[in-house]
Amino acid sequence: MRGAAPGDRVEAEITEVRRRFARARVVRLTPGDRRASLFCAHAGTCGGCPWMPIPIDDQRAALDAHVRRALGRVAPPDDPGPRFEPLVPGEPDRAWRSTARLHWRGGALGYHAAGGQTVVDVEACPVLAPPLPDLLAATRAALGPYLKGQGTIRLSGAPDAASGTLEVRPVGAAPGGLRAALAALVDGDGPCHGAVLVEGRRRAVFGRPYDDVDGVRHPAEAFVQAHRPGNRALTDAVVEAALRGGAAGPVLELYAGSGNFTFALAERGLAVTAVEIDRAAARALNEAAGRLGLADRVRALAADAGRLPRAALEPRPAVALLDPPRAGARDAVDRLAALGPGLRRIVYVSCNPATLARDAARCVARGWRLESARPFDLFPHTGHVEVLAVLVRAA
Ligand SMILES: C[S@@+](CC[C@H](N)C(=O)[O-])C[C@H]1O[C@@H](n2cnc3c(N)ncnc32)[C@H](O)[C@@H]1O
Repeated sequence: MRGAAPGDRVEAEITEVRRRFARARVVRLTPGDRRASLFCAHAGTCGGCPWMPIPIDDQRAALDAHVRRALGRVAPPDDPGPRFEPLVPGEPDRAWRSTARLHWRGGALGYHAAGGQTVVDVEACPVLAPPLPDLLAATRAALGPYLKGQGTIRLSGAPDAASGTLEVRPVGAAPGGLRAALAALVDGDGPCHGAVLVEGRRRAVFGRPYDDVDGVRHPAEAFVQAHRPGNRALTDAVVEAALRGGAAGPVLELYAGSGNFTFALAERGLAVTAVEIDRAAARALNEAAGRLGLADRVRALAADAGRLPRAALEPRPAVALLDPPRAGARDAVDRLAALGPGLRRIVYVSCNPATLARDAARCVARGWRLESARPFDLFPHTGHVEVLAVLVRAA
């Protein structure tokens, strides 16, 4: 229940009953004595960290239980089910975010309000990791007067770098003065070294519009994992899962982004064919492969992973690695699961246990088995969780 923590007493009125769940309205909430102390001035109004009142260990226990519940249903009745490995805590749980998407509307720049679409004006956000607090302050000062209408601004930066990047997306045409303000913000030695202004299909670039994070170059507008220390643990676990059970062959990586996992795999000697729909990310991945001297091992294709282009199957993969958005990868797993026995293992990274469970069940129906699953707490103070699952062929 939104706003409640373990130990609270909640009086609620059921307002809607569906076949599998019901909705309720809180009538009275009496706080218990286990509440965590709130460390943000916007807690309660801002929707960014809805679990902040819940002690961090309880948050993690709830995420762990959620993953077990979702994936426990995937195995057929005669199968003991996956091995659940212990949740990896995302530390730190404050100042952890190295990327954040803010909204602007009605003169406010911040996050959506709890349970609504109005924008809470946020001057400072304690979950942002350096350099994002400075980048936010500079962005507000430089762009604030020009943020008419509505749109989004994504802030990103490598941990502890002196500066970061912006992706600015107005709804419709950019308000007057915004371009010049962006050019001035990027010019100089301030906390913003690059920006991309996206207006429909048009894209204007300012300064150096990328961040170099842990050896990977992420374009300002491409996906990047927000919790960097947690991402390092996840990357290590992905490499271990790909190599588990002996020498792995070529890896087919779907939803590869700018190469977050790609280069870690290539550095272990694996040949990787990476498929990514975002052209800027795929281009960055190929450029980095050349720069790092790994072009003989790493190849990125700008393509739809769901269609599994023929070029992606050359060389024939022994391991498939997927990391799709929340909607999951139904078409891709259907195609992968039907590949010949040369494909021995599917390593699936997911930020949505429900679509992961759906996709894993589709593999199970085609002769695969869910071997293991491990949750990663990469989004502290939210109800989101990352999961690393491994599927192998059923004996
Ligand atoms: C959760 S991100 C993971 C990226 C990368 N693995 C990482 O850790 O940074 C999902 C990626 O899938 C890409 N994507 C979304 N739909 C896709 C599709 N149909 N085919 C290929 N890539 C897609 C997105 O652009 C994004 O880069």
